[in-house]
Amino acid sequence: QGDRQTYVIANWKMNKTLAETAEFFQEINSSNDVTVVVCPPAQLLYPAHLFIKQSGKPVHLGGQNVHWADKGAYTGETSTAMLKDVGCEYVIIGHSERRQYASEDDSLVNMKVKQSLMAGLTPIICIGETLEQKNSLQTEEVLASQLFGALNKIDSSHFIIAYEPIWAIGTGQSATAELAQQTHAYIRSVLKQMFGEKAESISILYGGSANQSNAAEYSKMPDIEGVLVGGASLKAKSFDGMIKVF
Ligand code: G3P
Repeated sequence: QGDRQTYVIANWKMNKTLAETAEFFQEINSSNDVTVVVCPPAQLLYPAHLFIKQSGKPVHLGGQNVHWADKGAYTGETSTAMLKDVGCEYVIIGHSERRQYASEDDSLVNMKVKQSLMAGLTPIICIGETLEQKNSLQTEEVLASQLFGALNKIDSSHFIIAYEPIWAIGTGQSATAELAQQTHAYIRSVLKQMFGEKAESISILYGGSANQSNAAEYSKMPDIEGVLVGGASLKAKSFDGMIKVF
């Protein structure tokens, strides 16, 4: 796996109170073998930053979304500068829930990726096919077009890809490690077309009902450099269990 960095990343989605956030960072352990990133909702980013600092644990912070413009009249939005200001180093972009509920498409994802790279944030770019697309054997076609769209006119390879098959998100129907590996290898082949040898050092994470019991299987695969975790990241104990195996 060369110099690829390994990540265990929590996506809390729209969950947790301030008190629960404080408790989580007290309970969580971290490891030096893997980069641990927690992505709380926007309102909890700054307190999370303070809790992490207080704990002295090597945990990194990420946003769940960001705006494509650097600043201005965009009511309700969060800029890259704001994320950085409250201690974020990472940002999730193009999560399937944002594609579904906030009409994000590949060209908007591309603008957000560009803005994030310019600001010095590491984008965690989410791609993945629906069950219908999987069943009609369109997975590779869908992933390639999402990658070409999200990474259009981008030279930097300082991003992370998260493969999150939509049929596996929140369903308990995780992809087998073999299927995820096969898909990750395909994703890397597309990245090679775009970035040449630099693609070898891009981390590709799996997301979709990843948990304490299946994480070990993913960790053995040559093209899976970690997991992006929803449900199982909400409890410090189960998130810790995943950090341990990577
Ligand atoms: O971004 C993580 C995610 O969509 C997976 O969610 O709950 O299936 O782990 P979950």
